[in-house]
Amino acid sequence: MHVLVCGGAGYVGSHAALVLAHAGHDVTVLDNLSTGHREAVRWGSLIEADLLKPETLDAAFARPVDAVMHFCARSLVGESMHEPVAYYQNNVAGTLNLLEAMRRHDVDRMVFSSTAAVFGNPVTDMIDEDHPKQPINPYGASKLMVEQVLRDAANGYGLRSVALRYFNAAGAAADEGIGESHSPETHLIPNALKAAAGEGAGLTVFGNNYPTHDGTCIRDYVHVLDLADAHLRALGWMDRERGAYQFNLGNGNGFSVLEVIEAARRLSGRDIPYTIGAPRAGDPPVLVASSRRAREKLGWTPRFDRMDPIIESAWAWHRAPAF
Ligand code: UFG
Repeated sequence: MHVLVCGGAGYVGSHAALVLAHAGHDVTVLDNLSTGHREAVRWGSLIEADLLKPETLDAAFARPVDAVMHFCARSLVGESMHEPVAYYQNNVAGTLNLLEAMRRHDVDRMVFSSTAAVFGNPVTDMIDEDHPKQPINPYGASKLMVEQVLRDAANGYGLRSVALRYFNAAGAAADEGIGESHSPETHLIPNALKAAAGEGAGLTVFGNNYPTHDGTCIRDYVHVLDLADAHLRALGWMDRERGAYQFNLGNGNGFSVLEVIEAARRLSGRDIPYTIGAPRAGDPPVLVASSRRAREKLGWTPRFDRMDPIIESAWAWHRAPAF
């Protein structure tokens, strides 16, 4: 298939492009390079375009496209609390423009990057797809709105879609020259590794008074290559199934912030000094996935199902980043 990877210069998108190319698909990347990296576009050509400038999108469809993978978004929970309009603008309005471009060019398949943030505060230990969706930050709300649009587009004109709700993406494909590189970096694992390497202003733990065993937030970390593999499987799913589907993607194991820091210390062999700071607005205490549906329906089995190899791959990238 010829797959248009929107946001393919970014973290998850670039790993998806790698996995698609290795599976024999033809990749074109669309990206505005606002947060993505030109150096991360290593599989397929880059078309610089912006979802908020609809007139720039047609160029990406010059060669017939079989399916779109849509990774373009602003994706920081904390930032979304302070800049909600930018989040709705980019994540909702941008997606509407992309869907219109797809319709103009008769493309009827989309894999969409959704998020655990659609659920809000969990009411069950493991979050499955039917868990109530009451996002507590504009980021999660913007992604939930798009999921609704995709369902309506399935009913309205037969768009096929799969929304993949990532829990916490982590790790890298350092040997392929891609990894996580945000500026500023806000995510826990890269920040812990920066602290291990003695870089940056030091690590802050955002709150230690949550209702968890050690007071810090618990998350379900899933390797970015496993996420990419789920995208590949979603392509096959859309071949077989009409309609709009949603799948949760996580390992089903929760790790607290302090446990992640301890694992990073052990695996890097370096001290990781940290201070305890205020809780970050918009953070639920615990987010752990039930990915049973993805395992059963997509045949998805995460290869990195333990924390150590996830952090090791992130550390390999941190020591020798290609960009
Ligand atoms: N944290 C710290 N210090 C840091 C960075 C993070 O204590 O320097 C904490 C956060 O408060 C949170 C946990 O570590 O409790 C994980 O934070 P990340 O920023 O790494 O990830 P998030 O859980 O905020 O967000 C990620 C994705 C979102 C997605 C969300 C779903 O970035 O897109 O997972 O849970 F919505």
